[in-house]
This record gives sequence, C-alpha cells and structure tokens, in this order.
Amino acid sequence: LHDLLLDELKDLYSAENQLTKALPKMAKAAASEELRTAFEDHLKETENQVNRLDRIFKELEASGKGKKCQAMAGLIEEGKEIIDEDAEDSVRDAALIAAAQKVEHYEIAGYGSARAHAELLGLDEAVKLLQETLDEEIGADTKLNGIAKEINVEAESPA
Ligand SMILES: [Fe+2]
Repeated sequence: LHDLLLDELKDLYSAENQLTKALPKMAKAAASEELRTAFEDHLKETENQVNRLDRIFKELEASGKGKKCQAMAGLIEEGKEIIDEDAEDSVRDAALIAAAQKVEHYEIAGYGSARAHAELLGLDEAVKLLQETLDEEIGADTKLNGIAKEINVEAESPA
C-alpha cells in the first residue's frame, strides 16, 4: 500500500505541475472576468498544492519525480482544443468551465484515494496536508458551479 500511495502522489505531483502551466492559458482565454479571476486564484492554490506534495515527499523520504500523469495531459489537451475553437465568448467560457471541472473531479478522486491510503498507513501529517488540498479542490469545483450558472444562461443565447 505504501508503494501504491507513492505512485498516487507522484501522479498528483505531475498533474499539479502540468496544471500550473495550463491555468494561465485558460485564464487568458476566459472572456468573463469572474472566470479569469477564478482560474488565477486556483493557480495560486495549485502552486501551494505542489508545495504540500513536496513536504509529503520530504517526510516520506521519496522523490516526486519519475511519473507523468497521462490523464491530466489528456484533460489539458482537451482544454487546449477549446481555447483554439472559434466560438462565441460565453460559449467558450461555458466549455472552459466544463473542462476545468473535469480536471477538478479527477483531482478530487486522486486526493480522496491518496488521503484514504495515507490514513490506513498512519501517516498523520500527509493525511492533514492531503485533506487541505482536497478541500481546496472541492472549493474550486463549487466556485465553478456558481460561475457556470450565470455563464451557461448567457451561452444559451449569446449576444
Ligand atoms: Fe490541484
């Protein structure tokens, strides 16, 4: 189980690092200021989430390197297609939100499993740090739900 946890953490580490590069592009592509700010805020959170993982690896005396999260690479690739799409602003924003929520749900699942496995292994500090990040990811998803409510109405009949 310890090896599985390390593998999960490496996957998340790769996912978060990929996301720190993708979020600025998603922010730039967002037409809604609220959505752009949400992406920028989540970038700051994501950088802090990378730091938390660094602390966990230090505690476990392991390296975070050596694995590429293919799922996040795919999700980001889909996001890139949306950015490049020729669409109404509100429709593109609605699509960006949907893409971002897929990312959040992937992370929520990943952190949920890692947290549960760390708990079984009695790694209290890791559990605490993983829970903090899990709460942030859930918060980001909830925030996107709120923004989507307004933008999806606009996207239904773009100006
Ligand atoms: Fe994250």
